[in-house]
Amino acid sequence: MNATIKLEQKHIPVLLDELISIISPLYGGTFIDCTFGQGGYSSKILENKNNKIISFDRDEEVIDISRKLKKKFGKKFSFINKKFSEINSIDLTKENIRAIIFDLGYSTSQIKNSSKGISFNYLGKLNMKMGLNKFSAHDVVNKMDEISLHKIFKFYGDEQKSKIIAKKIVLERKKKIIKTEDLVKIIDLVKKHKRTKTHNSTKIFQSLRIFVNEEVSQLIFGLINSFKILPIGGMIAVVTFHSLEDKIVKFFFRNYSENKNSSRYLPELSQKKQLFKLNNKKPILPSWNEIKINPSSRSAKLRYGIKISNSNDFNEFLKKFEYLLNIEKLSKKL
Ligand SMILES: C[S@@+](CC[C@H](N)C(=O)[O-])C[C@H]1O[C@@H](n2cnc3c(N)ncnc32)[C@H](O)[C@@H]1O
Repeated sequence: MNATIKLEQKHIPVLLDELISIISPLYGGTFIDCTFGQGGYSSKILENKNNKIISFDRDEEVIDISRKLKKKFGKKFSFINKKFSEINSIDLTKENIRAIIFDLGYSTSQIKNSSKGISFNYLGKLNMKMGLNKFSAHDVVNKMDEISLHKIFKFYGDEQKSKIIAKKIVLERKKKIIKTEDLVKIIDLVKKHKRTKTHNSTKIFQSLRIFVNEEVSQLIFGLINSFKILPIGGMIAVVTFHSLEDKIVKFFFRNYSENKNSSRYLPELSQKKQLFKLNNKKPILPSWNEIKINPSSRSAKLRYGIKISNSNDFNEFLKKFEYLLNIEKLSKKL
């Protein structure tokens, strides 16, 4: 993709002021931006001369943007083209890490890039790969068995018609489902073109994106591995865009910050270790003004926690979302 197109598809960073206001008391150290994207968050944090940024992104198409920041900020900025779940594979021992930030989902340029085939609003080959993927959405809809498709649509998309849509896809794919519009047509046939407030294809496209990019394990291990490398007093801040992501992030912070076993009816249970201090139990949401300027910010939620103790035990977290992690294993059939 050339630079002119990238400029037209500039991503507006979501909840930027709110994020800066929660992390700025920690200024003067290293910040990790797990989702560099168009560099909106990273550039803003680098405006403070005492800060250093290490950014991750799995999409190699953002390397050009990262080079511009490198030129401007030199040693204060580094970019790693890796998935954020691998955050603990980098030697960060010399860094004074103050906060690790996630802005989940897709940048505007990824959504509008028809070769990525991410959105039903942009015609293009069914692909959905963010970067560093093992398979595409094309592989999933053309090769996966009906029961697996049904599970993906149900658990990752909460699609009520998951079973019939899976059946219809298997019937129709004799002709191959190549483009985003081919899949939209099949979904419309099942839903009989009844467009509600939500587009007929929203949930199916969402579930395929989550599956193709292994977003559930990325998020779960991204959070766990970030926690492991974060010193006490450091912060993890996460912006989510859909309910599945938010459910995972909310559980991670709440479960490890509240003492749920402290009920007087359960005196024999040991007190659960608290790993985070939460300043807000409720997520921070975009203002009406932000939504007016950037409507795609409307579903964003920002949650954050300050690390107060160490732990290596995340079994409860893993057990809670095992059913979602197991869906990823279906890709072995591809
Ligand atoms: C919403 S955009 C981030 C926008 C950024 N905050 C900005 O202001 O420009 C999300 C970015 O995260 C990247 N991403 C998503 N999941 C990732 C993962 N598991 N590992 C690394 N990068 C990921 C995507 O490729 C995308 O570029």
